Amino acid sequence: MSSPMTIRPMQPADLDAVLRVQAACYPPPMQEPAAVVKARLDAAAATCLAACDADGVCGYLFAYPSRLGLVTDLGAPFELAPDADTLYLHDLAVDPRALGRGLARALVEYLLDLGRGRGLSHAALVSVQDSTRFWTGFGFVARMTGDAGLLTYPAGAVYMARPLD
Ligand SMILES: CC(C)(COP(=O)(O)OP(=O)(O)OC[C@H]1O[C@@H](n2cnc3c(N)ncnc32)[C@H](O)[C@@H]1OP(=O)(O)O)[C@@H](O)C(=O)NCCC(=O)NCCS
Repeated sequence: MSSPMTIRPMQPADLDAVLRVQAACYPPPMQEPAAVVKARLDAAAATCLAACDADGVCGYLFAYPSRLGLVTDLGAPFELAPDADTLYLHDLAVDPRALGRGLARALVEYLLDLGRGRGLSHAALVSVQDSTRFWTGFGFVARMTGDAGLLTYPAGAVYMARPLD
C-alpha cells in the first residue's frame, strides 16, 4: 500500500532531500548548484513547496513572482519582480518512488491557486525533458520570448505560459 503524501511550504531543512530528488530527476548538466537552490528558497519561500511521504521529501516545486516573458537562466538565482504579473514555475520534480500518483498535479494546482490569490495574471515556465505535453495538460501553451535565458537550457526547451483565471 502506498503511503499518504502531504504538500507544505518548503523549509531549509528540506534542502538535502530536495537535492537528492533533483539528482534523481535531471542529468548532470541540468543539476543546479546547492548554493543557488538554497538562495532561491531564501528569496521565495512563500512560493516553494515540498511534497512528502513517509520517507520524507519526494517532490518539490520552486516558483517566484516574475514578469510575463522573462526566463530564469539555468543555474541562476531568482530575481523577484517588484511589479510581478506572473508566477514563474522554475522547477517541478517528483522522485521516481512517487511518480504517477498525482503529486505533480497537486503541487502545480496548489501554486496556481496561490498565484490567483495574489492577483497575478499569468503563470509561465520553461518546459524541459520533453514535458510540453505534461504542461499542456495544465493549460500552458508555447509562447514566444525574446529572453536569451532560454538558450541556457538544453535544446528542446520551450517557454510556455497560461492565464491565471
Ligand atoms: C513530469 C513529472 C513532474 C510528473 O510527475 P507525476 O507526479 O508523475 O505527475 P502526476 O501523477 O501528478 O500526473 C499529472 C498529469 O500529468 C500526466 N503526466 C505525467 N507525466 C507526464 C509526461 N511525462 N508527459 C505527459 N503527461 C504526463 C499524468 O497522466 C496526469 O494526467 P491526469 O491528471 O490528467 O491523469 C515527473 O515525471 C518528473 O519529475 N519528471 C522529471 C523532472 C521534470 O522533467 N520536470 C518537468 C520540468 S519542466
